[in-house]
Amino acid sequence: MFNTPCLTSPAAAHTLRGGGALKRGTTDMDRRREVATDRLLLRPWREGDGVELQRLFSDAAVRGERHMPSARIARLHEGSLQQWHTNGFGPWAAIDKATGSWIGRVGLDELEGWPGADRIEVGFELHAAWWGRGLATEAARVALAFGFEQHGLDRIISVTAAAHAAARRVMEKAGLTYQGHALLDES
Ligand SMILES: CC(C)(COP(=O)(O)OP(=O)(O)OC[C@H]1O[C@@H](n2cnc3c(N)ncnc32)[C@H](O)[C@@H]1OP(=O)(O)O)[C@@H](O)C(=O)NCCC(=O)NCCS
Repeated sequence: MFNTPCLTSPAAAHTLRGGGALKRGTTDMDRRREVATDRLLLRPWREGDGVELQRLFSDAAVRGERHMPSARIARLHEGSLQQWHTNGFGPWAAIDKATGSWIGRVGLDELEGWPGADRIEVGFELHAAWWGRGLATEAARVALAFGFEQHGLDRIISVTAAAHAAARRVMEKAGLTYQGHALLDES
C-alpha cells in the first residue's frame, strides 16, 4: 500500500543523486526550514494546512486518477506534519509571495511503503489556477537543493503515473533522471 497521492499504477520513477556536504543527523539547529524562491514562500507544513489540503484535493483536476477520500487526505496532512518532527524536513506549503495565496503542497516527502531504500521524494501539487507558470519546477529545484545541501541526502526520487506528462516534465526540468517503470498497488 502506498500512502502518497503521487502514485498510481503503473508509475514512473525518476531520481537525482547529490553530493551533499552535510550528513543526515547533523544538528539542524541552524538549518533553514523556510525557503523563498523568486515567486514563492515555501514554509514547513502547519496544523492549519489540513483544511487547505482538503480544498486542494477537492478539485478533480488535481486528484487526477487518484482516489483521495477525505480520510486519506487527513492522513497525508498528519504525515506531512510528522515528517518535520522525525526527519527535520518535510513537505512545504507553497505561498504566492505577491498575494499571500496558499497555492499548494510541494517539496520533500517521505514515501511510506516505497519498495526502494531511498524514500525521500520531491513532490508537487498545486491549485490548477497556478499551473503552467513554472512554479512546480521552481519549487522542485529548491527542494532538491534543500535536501542535498541542507540535509545531506544522497538521493532524492520522484514518482508519478507513467502517463502524467506534466509531472514527468517537471521532474526532467528539475534535473531528475528517468529510472524506470514499476507496477504499484495503491489499494
Ligand atoms: C504537475 C503539476 C505540479 C505541474 O505544475 P506546473 O507549475 O504547471 O509545472 P511547470 O509549469 O513547472 O512545468 C510543467 C511542464 O509540463 C508541461 N506540460 C503541461 N501539461 C502537459 C501535458 N499534458 N503533456 C506534456 N507536457 C505538459 C508544461 O508545458 C511545462 O513544460 P515546459 O516548461 O517545457 O513547457 C501541476 O499540474 C499539478 O499540481 N497537478 C496536479 C497534482 C499532480 O498531479 N501532481 C503531481 C503528482 S506526482
